[in-house]
Amino acid sequence: MPAHGSSIHEQGCDRLREALRADLDFHGKNGKHATHAWHSFPAKFPPQLPQFFIESFTVADDIVLDPMSGSGTTLVEAARLGRQAIGCDIDPLARMIAAAKLLPVNAVQALETGTALIQAAQRALHRDRDQLEHALNRRFDPKTRAFIDFWFLPQQQLELLALLQGIEKVQQEGLQAFFKIVFSSTIIAKSGGVSLARDLAHTRPHKVTDKKPNSAFVEFTKRLKQNLATHVADTANPKHSGRVLSTGAASTGLPSDSVDLIVTSPPYANNAIDYMRAHKFSLVWFGWNIDALSRIRARYLGHDAAGTTQFNGLPRQCETTLTQLAERDAKKAAALRRYFGEMSTVIKEMWRVLKKGQPAVIVVGTSNLRGLDVETHKGLAALGEKVGFELAGIGVRRLDRDKRMMPARWGSQRHSQIEERMHQEYVIGLIKFR
Ligand SMILES: C[S@@+](CC[C@H](N)C(=O)[O-])C[C@H]1O[C@@H](n2cnc3c(N)ncnc32)[C@H](O)[C@@H]1O
Repeated sequence: MPAHGSSIHEQGCDRLREALRADLDFHGKNGKHATHAWHSFPAKFPPQLPQFFIESFTVADDIVLDPMSGSGTTLVEAARLGRQAIGCDIDPLARMIAAAKLLPVNAVQALETGTALIQAAQRALHRDRDQLEHALNRRFDPKTRAFIDFWFLPQQQLELLALLQGIEKVQQEGLQAFFKIVFSSTIIAKSGGVSLARDLAHTRPHKVTDKKPNSAFVEFTKRLKQNLATHVADTANPKHSGRVLSTGAASTGLPSDSVDLIVTSPPYANNAIDYMRAHKFSLVWFGWNIDALSRIRARYLGHDAAGTTQFNGLPRQCETTLTQLAERDAKKAAALRRYFGEMSTVIKEMWRVLKKGQPAVIVVGTSNLRGLDVETHKGLAALGEKVGFELAGIGVRRLDRDKRMMPARWGSQRHSQIEERMHQEYVIGLIKFR
């Protein structure tokens, strides 16, 4: 507890420091309630993590922001708890997933409409195969079509298109968004998905030529039922509205001093999870072409495509790491410089939009680059202080490998050095005071 008579400033820091000392592991807790399990997403939060900070630092109707909202865990928790949820993400599939999870859905209606939709798609394939083949040929540009032909067998292509045509006819916004997520989760799945990829849920698109992909109808039916099973209206339907913006985290477009709390997690510094590599399997069906998706991928924070911007003036913590890494690998050091530089603009934006006295919570894992632990958390904390935040502290949470889906290669190297370094992540607590 803060000492009697201590300033608001100290009290704020004390409260956040205390929160960072709490058990942030949340092992053994069920994270599949409400809409959280609707779609796989690597490195998503356990819902209890944003819930804890939202309940500790905001009240009803406050604004909670996640500027790198991914599958929307922070947003769903904020909306469920009656806060206004705002997210940003440059990844169109992340936005689709998060937006769908924020819209109310009537489970009975969803099951009825979904079942009718599957039956209509089956009939269409049976009766109008030619029409579907024709539509398939017109729907994609040559490069995107070649991608689809490489990864999906002709039967699954037709089944997917038949389902999609039905989904596109659904008028109600929340229902259509829900079916799109069901559709996408039949593709971005572990080995059971409808493509020839091995494990898209872990962003592993290796082709398995002798794989016998499941029927899209069967998978859609399965996922529809699974998603609705956890959907208990009073906990799943949000109490408050939420929105997901397509702006990058560095320029949210939100007014200054308007946000009550930020809970977010950026991508890893070494780009360990290549979201777009898996997401394009789904996005091509929703009208995105391969070239456009490659351009979005290059805008990912920390992407190793050569940037044109110079990132100088980083804090000493970052510069020291960069010097050590440059001695081992100049190219990786340049990519890490870009990551720290971009994160600096993102954290500056967080500072701008937050109200005075309010916290930003940034959750990040560290990265091992050429045998060097880059201690990303310390770098980001130093960046936070540089842009004007007060650093209340850095909490540690042990990852539950079964829950927070990490890149597959980490999971398979249980005893390797990198695995040892990757078994925890850091919770950076910053407060804006000026
Ligand atoms: C670790 S994930 C967030 C996961 C999220 N906490 C959840 O529970 O699902 C990081 C997210 O940052 C997003 N991202 C990458 N670059 C971005 C940028 N420049 N602006 C906004 N979001 C970005 C990625 O698309 C990804 O969804």
